[in-house]
Amino acid sequence: MQPLEAGDPTRIGPYAILGVLGSGGMGKVYLGRSTGGRTVAVKAVRPELADDSQFRQRFRNEIEAAKSVSGAFTAAVVDSDTEASVPWFATAFIAGISLGDAVARFGALPEPALRTLTAGLAEAIAAVHRAGIIHRDLKPANVLLALDGPYVIDFGITRATEGTALTTAGTVMGSPGFMSPEQASGVRVGPETDMFSLGATLVYAATARSPFGDGPTPALLYRVVSQEPDISGVPDSLRDMIAACLHKEPARRPTTQQILDYLDANAPAPTTGGWLPPHYTDAIVQASHVRLRPILMTTIAIVAGMLPIAFGRGAGSGSRASMAVTIIGGQILCLLLTLLITPVVYSYFDGLRAWRPSDLLNPLRKWVRSGADAPGIAAPEKAES
Ligand SMILES: Nc1ncnc2c1ncn2[C@@H]1O[C@H](COP(=O)(O)OP(=O)(O)O)[C@@H](O)[C@H]1O
Ligand SMILES: [Mg+2]
Repeated sequence: MQPLEAGDPTRIGPYAILGVLGSGGMGKVYLGRSTGGRTVAVKAVRPELADDSQFRQRFRNEIEAAKSVSGAFTAAVVDSDTEASVPWFATAFIAGISLGDAVARFGALPEPALRTLTAGLAEAIAAVHRAGIIHRDLKPANVLLALDGPYVIDFGITRATEGTALTTAGTVMGSPGFMSPEQASGVRVGPETDMFSLGATLVYAATARSPFGDGPTPALLYRVVSQEPDISGVPDSLRDMIAACLHKEPARRPTTQQILDYLDANAPAPTTGGWLPPHYTDAIVQASHVRLRPILMTTIAIVAGMLPIAFGRGAGSGSRASMAVTIIGGQILCLLLTLLITPVVYSYFDGLRAWRPSDLLNPLRKWVRSGADAPGIAAPEKAES
């Protein structure tokens, strides 16, 4: 999560805005928190889209449909205001790392995790399709790996931008290396387009490469439409199924149910233990921890750095050598103190996503108002990045 910048809102609808989660074609995604402490990802659409009446109408329809998608395998849409001057919608916050980031950091997923990922994504796409929605932008950046399985984000709503200044200006919505041939050719697409993107996403998870390689957008679109995907390195147990997803002919691709049946018969996902290797799990837990604002850490460092000077002054009457010993000793002492203090400060502020000086007073205020026990350490919040 990135800190807020000048111009970012501090509140959207009923949510206090705590940081920036991402920024894409349609708008900016913020981490928000309700009064009750529930965390959400709030996507605020670009101001230029907000003025487009066609966009608003489509946005209304898409949000309505997206709200009916089950949240078991996708980030559920939990709230929206399509009539606000800057329209927005909120999805349940998923504590996780994107598949794109995970593979870039740790390389390809091992086979057992790949099987669970395949099953989880098939279930997620099935849920999206059941609501009458086509995802249209399934790719590694839109899959979040969480401790309890993979989640699909960012579905369907991009369609609201079709025909707006954003798309007519030539911006490619979606990621060319993961688009289906029909999408790349600009023809009408059906749910099968998501099966192609699923195949491409799984090749990436299995090999750390996109099946159509890298390069400029036109080259990628050409390869997607007219060349065979490179699926070398995909485990044998999943190869036929993934190859079928990547069929150029939409009707020849499997359905989500066929994928789940295939997995049951040929490559069952493990049913015991964590689904990800331990270093992935560690990265998810780490991403859930708050990162203190640099200002707080700088303050600690400056205060720590000033202490030896104070020690040095006190020792000013002694010889030069004893003063040097005092200053060096003071520096070491302060280094140790900083190392000791930092975790305490971290745990104190854990959960306060965007720290402000006034936050220091909050426990005191609560204590004064409630007349309860002495102010304590704020309980760490679960699951945020
Ligand atoms: N529900 C969510 N839970 C956690 N993080 C999210 C959620 N929705 C979005 N994000 C974060 O914000 C980033 C951008 O969100 P996304 O919906 O994919 O928008 P876009 O692709 O238009 O920027 C994601 O890569 C992810 O890191
Ligand atoms: Mg996205």
